[in-house]
Amino acid sequence: MIKYSHGKGDLENWLVSEEEFQPDTLGKSEAIMYLGNGYMGLRSATEEPYMKETRNLFVGGTFNKAGENEVTELPNIADVTRFDIRVDGDQFSLEFGKTKDYIKQLNLKTAELRRYFVWTSPRGKVLQFEFKRFVSLDNLHLISMKMFVKSLTEPVKISFDTGIDAQMNNSGSQHFLEGERRIFDKKDIQLVQTTNESKIDVVINSTHRITINDEQRIADPEMNMSRRKVWLTYDINLRPNDRLEVEKLTTVYTSRDKDLDITEYTTRQLREKSLNDARNCAMKGYDSLLHSHTEAWNNSIWNAYKLEINSDNPYDQLALRFSLYHLTIMAPAHDERMGIAAKGLSGEGYKGHSFWDTEIFILPFFIFSNPAVAKSLLTYRYNGLTGARKKARENGYSGAMFPWEAAWPSDGEVTPKLGDIDIVTGEQTKIWSGIIEQHISADIAFAIYQYFNVTADHEFMDHYGYEIIFDTASFWASRLEWDAGKQEYHINKVIGPDEYKEHVNNNAFTNYMAFFNLKLAIRYYEALMKENPRLIEVLNNKLDLKTAYPIWQSKAKKIYLPQPSEEDLVIPQDDTYLKLKEIDLTKYKNQEKLRTIYRDYNPEQINTLQVTKQADILLLFYLLNQTFLREDMQLSNAIKEANFYYYEPKTLHDSSLSLATHSILANDIGDADLAYSLFRKSTEVDLGPQMNTSDDGIHAASMGGIWKAAIFGFAGIRLVDGKLTINPKLPKQWHHMKFTIQWKGQPITLFLTKTTLSVKVENKKKIEFEIQDQIYACDDEINIEYENKNR
Ligand code: BGC
Repeated sequence: MIKYSHGKGDLENWLVSEEEFQPDTLGKSEAIMYLGNGYMGLRSATEEPYMKETRNLFVGGTFNKAGENEVTELPNIADVTRFDIRVDGDQFSLEFGKTKDYIKQLNLKTAELRRYFVWTSPRGKVLQFEFKRFVSLDNLHLISMKMFVKSLTEPVKISFDTGIDAQMNNSGSQHFLEGERRIFDKKDIQLVQTTNESKIDVVINSTHRITINDEQRIADPEMNMSRRKVWLTYDINLRPNDRLEVEKLTTVYTSRDKDLDITEYTTRQLREKSLNDARNCAMKGYDSLLHSHTEAWNNSIWNAYKLEINSDNPYDQLALRFSLYHLTIMAPAHDERMGIAAKGLSGEGYKGHSFWDTEIFILPFFIFSNPAVAKSLLTYRYNGLTGARKKARENGYSGAMFPWEAAWPSDGEVTPKLGDIDIVTGEQTKIWSGIIEQHISADIAFAIYQYFNVTADHEFMDHYGYEIIFDTASFWASRLEWDAGKQEYHINKVIGPDEYKEHVNNNAFTNYMAFFNLKLAIRYYEALMKENPRLIEVLNNKLDLKTAYPIWQSKAKKIYLPQPSEEDLVIPQDDTYLKLKEIDLTKYKNQEKLRTIYRDYNPEQINTLQVTKQADILLLFYLLNQTFLREDMQLSNAIKEANFYYYEPKTLHDSSLSLATHSILANDIGDADLAYSLFRKSTEVDLGPQMNTSDDGIHAASMGGIWKAAIFGFAGIRLVDGKLTINPKLPKQWHHMKFTIQWKGQPITLFLTKTTLSVKVENKKKIEFEIQDQIYACDDEINIEYENKNR
């Protein structure tokens, strides 16, 4: 079980702990306590090995296709965390002997993992163990580990193997060619591995420092090497109460690193550079490196985002910190050739690929909190235009059709073709999303619109943003199908956000988002014609906008946009949904695990039922309400409410993307208790008591969703067609809340109670915002009383 209340004093609501060692559910803490810095992600497997462990180290962007019929994925890089320990010759394992005072703990504040326990060996020797590690935010290439062992009662001989193990694979697939290995000075180890298809070199160096009772020892380890593996074996005699300390500092470098600074790349140079870095780190030592790392966390994360919640349930504060922690370590802030993977860098799930999860669920956090990272993530999409154009051409369309799953920017579509078992046929199900889940192109356009409105970053728009919006609009224009009978454009045979409906016609989300994308392109084109004709000329040369613009205009006018029914205001999710069979969904609504419906029905059968996987129409409301379409669409509260109460009971929240959106919507329609309970559920997707749901990795979009539910939902911050609006609705459990957002290039700190709101404009540049329909201007600090509808 995961515990939330271990932190006391300064560490209150900062510690995520596991108090018991459970060899059957190792995946939970390995994933939710994983360490990283956006460059790499290290799963928190224990030092000593166990049958059901998953040991993972991923470096962003190192995609490789292991074989002809495989999909490109992030390879599992060599392991440096494993220590095979023997006590008087017997293998140390918590599955034997007796364990007392066990704790495995992630300190979110310092991003350091700690494990402590007292272990009595089967022969009755009592030893105290402590392990610590962190993946540095200060030096992105560094993994630091420390082990302490003390014999409490008798003399013991401790032996341990420590090294670099490249016998790793991805569920059996081997990505690396055998590389060179070497040991320097009997203490520093180096291993080189090269991906077999993308030919990326990875160099790993580990240095060791051994002390007993704080005195450094020149240990004389045995040096070993075997296939894909190199390691040292130490034998150390300890007297009672002697304290053995082992520091292992590892650097990881790849030939894809952006910061390489090598003119003519050779593996030798990479080896030298990375070894030097490891040796420099070794001179500094664990504690000093930890200090620089925690400073980096303090300065760039905790003191920058300043998110504080005072709640009757202290867990809420912990959960928000947990989401900020994960959002930080999943984001490749250092390199705009990389996106965020659906599982961050915490597991093999979804192969390190990026989905719409980034633009719709994660990016809002960065846009409002750390726009430089948002910019890098959107530039990744710009870099992906080559692949998007290729996909459009391959499918007979124009413009840019973004891949449903993306890896390296030039890869284009990388969605696997086959998935899990079909319970009726016994075969693998076909995965259609790579071909017909197309809304992602409009989702990216939406994210750019949001980024621009919040940051006013014209430079980004001129270089990257407009081009993406114009070319995705051209994709939609070519994608629309003319229905001669109805004299309107349709989008047929797609999958919307609700992936339980395949090959549907006129999924409302897709049609409206395509319409938004076209209208956005038209608006920006017209504005640029007046304000920056030179840029239009440049873009016209590239994209033939003169031909494209009238087509966008004529087609946008005639897209079929499903309307609310006069009777009950429900908008059909697609052409057939409302006519499908309704079944009793109680069993699935109360499920402990996700997607249990697949145990009873195959995808074809689910297609015939009124059952929804995740927010679809409801997500549309939330998105369009932030845009200039808000007025035209007349999405009144009555319509939102009618659709919420129609679709929510049919939604199984079988994707982690669903709960937070529903929480925000529940808040919008004034159902405060439901909003809070959905928020709580969304925080539990990874942090909650379910011990297996994070095995394949954490749910990156859900981490963004937790932040969104708090800031867009409860604090009521919302972008509305370029305006900043604030309509707080704190849940009754929350007493106050504080946080900093970035608005048009400056930090704004908000402090909210149930009835008052203070806005502090940090750089004293005047801003305007709207609170409960009243406009305010401020260039310093303002305190406002507001009417709390949730009191
Ligand atoms: C969801 C998608 C999501 C993907 C990756 C799927 O289960 O239905 O919307 O993009 O997971 O998180």
